[in-house]
Amino acid sequence: MSSSTSIVVVISAVLLLSFTATTISAFNITRILDEYPPFSQFNSLLSQTHLAEEINRRKTITILALTNDRLGDITGKPVEVQKRILMTHVVLDYYDVLKLNKLKSTKTVLTNLYQATGTADDQQGFLDVTHKNDGSIYFGSAMKGSPLDAKLEGSVMKMPYNISVLSISHPIIAPGIDGTYKLIGAPPPKAAAPGPKVPPPAESPEEDVPADAPVAEEPAADADAPAPVDGPAGAPGPDATPADAADNHSPPPANGAGKNMVSGVMMMVTLASFLAAH
Ligand SMILES: *[C@@H]1O[C@H](CO)[C@@H](O)[C@H](O)[C@H]1NC(C)=O
Ligand SMILES: *[C@@H]1O[C@H](CO)[C@@H](O)[C@H](O)[C@H]1NC(C)=O
Repeated sequence: MSSSTSIVVVISAVLLLSFTATTISAFNITRILDEYPPFSQFNSLLSQTHLAEEINRRKTITILALTNDRLGDITGKPVEVQKRILMTHVVLDYYDVLKLNKLKSTKTVLTNLYQATGTADDQQGFLDVTHKNDGSIYFGSAMKGSPLDAKLEGSVMKMPYNISVLSISHPIIAPGIDGTYKLIGAPPPKAAAPGPKVPPPAESPEEDVPADAPVAEEPAADADAPAPVDGPAGAPGPDATPADAADNHSPPPANGAGKNMVSGVMMMVTLASFLAAH
């Protein structure tokens, strides 16, 4: 290997390292929920399904959390179904109790993390939130005919305007999210078997990030399309696009990146002079 080839290799390695290091998240949902024992099981589920990592990569997010006694039969379902249900409980925007109380319209549509996968059918990737006359607030799946019965019980924690964890009374289970939607719907199932198991943590960034991209970049194009099997479903909520775009395409905070670049450059200089000397 010539010394110039070595230098190119070294530079690439250093750049790759600093790029990887700058994807450090602003918060850690696992650590946040660790402080609230009533949510320990919900917290474990987020880790087991690798959704915790996905949540940590976001900058503006709301979690509709369930206490241990309210998880119902979620834990008895196949892991892929658990993951889809939990994704329904992750709203791609920041909502604390104050902001929810300020919502003017009687019914507001929120976009959830399942929509960002591009695999949600119909309105499975959306939630409705509504105010009752007595001032209480309820969430439900935006799928037609779904009950709007998950009552907002209160705020667990918030870090305005990045992450809010709210407690709700019931799991939100969108019709067909257990995989039966395609059986009800017109198109025959392409693949009966569920996809590959949850990827190992190290591989999840590549696995998950591209799935978000079409949703973020083509807000209007599919708005009226009847939810194709492999494309993003309709996007009624105005919330979907900005949150998504901001989350995935904005560069990480400058301070971390700067430090990494500086240490990267120093490593390069050191290695280059080492190579030059030999
Ligand atoms: C909070 O979110 C904003 C954008 O919504 C982002 O610019 C900022 O870096 C986030 N703060 C933290 C601590 O991540
Ligand atoms: C988040 O916190 C948990 C528990 O403290 C820890 O095991 C995990 O490594 C943390 N994740 C990141 C990305 O720092």
